Amino acid sequence: MKTLIYFLLAALFTFTPPASNRLFAAELTMPELDVPFVPTDESVVTAMIHLAGVNSNDVLYDLGSGDGRIVIQAAKQTGCRGVGIDIDPVRVEEARDNLRRAGVEGVEFRQGDLFEADISEASVVAIYLLQSVNLRLRPKLLGELRPGARVVSHAFDMGEWQTDAQRDVAGANIYYWVIPANISGTWEWQNHAGEKEAIEINQRFQAAKGVHRGNNNSSDLGEIKIHGTSVAFSGEARHGGRFVPAKFAAELVSKDVLNGTITTDYGVFQWQATRRPGTRSRIDGE
Ligand SMILES: C[S@@+](CC[C@H](N)C(=O)[O-])C[C@H]1O[C@@H](n2cnc3c(N)ncnc32)[C@H](O)[C@@H]1O
Repeated sequence: MKTLIYFLLAALFTFTPPASNRLFAAELTMPELDVPFVPTDESVVTAMIHLAGVNSNDVLYDLGSGDGRIVIQAAKQTGCRGVGIDIDPVRVEEARDNLRRAGVEGVEFRQGDLFEADISEASVVAIYLLQSVNLRLRPKLLGELRPGARVVSHAFDMGEWQTDAQRDVAGANIYYWVIPANISGTWEWQNHAGEKEAIEINQRFQAAKGVHRGNNNSSDLGEIKIHGTSVAFSGEARHGGRFVPAKFAAELVSKDVLNGTITTDYGVFQWQATRRPGTRSRIDGE
């Protein structure tokens, strides 16, 4: 029922008034909203905070923060820092009033367009927008947030970007994603025999496929698991004069360096691979 009301409001909101009314509308200095204000129910806010695992080390951004309820409740419940961004100055004032009343520390509300905001410091982003707005926001989230940052959305998903978790709370859907490290491209290293080995990885969102290329040897990698900065997959590694089954586990320690281990039946070996310049590509579906 609430989703239906939301859709009706959104439809009303996107309705273009006749020319005579447009003149009147133009006289109002109301910023152009991408989404109307509809607040998230308290029980859903609690579930969003829980699903995103918000804790005192987090910096939570609510993009389109409305009356500020998500940021205020998250800071109150967990001690996280919070930033709410809303384009509508009336909402920002309301949120600041609510913040004063709540007496919570470490929260601020900024007036601005969520598409232009610097969100790079956020470890958690909360949104209640529209599907079309989520899709426009998707490249910004994947491009600006650190790997491992979490995104939680009320009611609307991200299209082809599969969720990492999903909940139904009081008839509302909540969607959750972890920003994956971008490990696309060709990664190279030298094995203990001094030979050059490489893996080529194709990645879209958190899903990836890869091929291992050794000395005149090429094989598909097993399922590649990417969770934040952690990467794991099975493949083959050189041992003595042959290639043997191996499990790779690594962290993306800087933009172009994977550091971890290769485990085979013969032991655990340190592994460091660097990305060949120019082979990293976008993973955001654009
Ligand atoms: C559905 S409400 C959600 C409010 C709050 N996040 C919640 O869940 O209770 C969407 C909010 O986004 C704001 N908004 C719409 N377009 C925006 C934009 N381009 N930049 C920032 N805020 C925007 C609206 O003013 C509104 O307050």
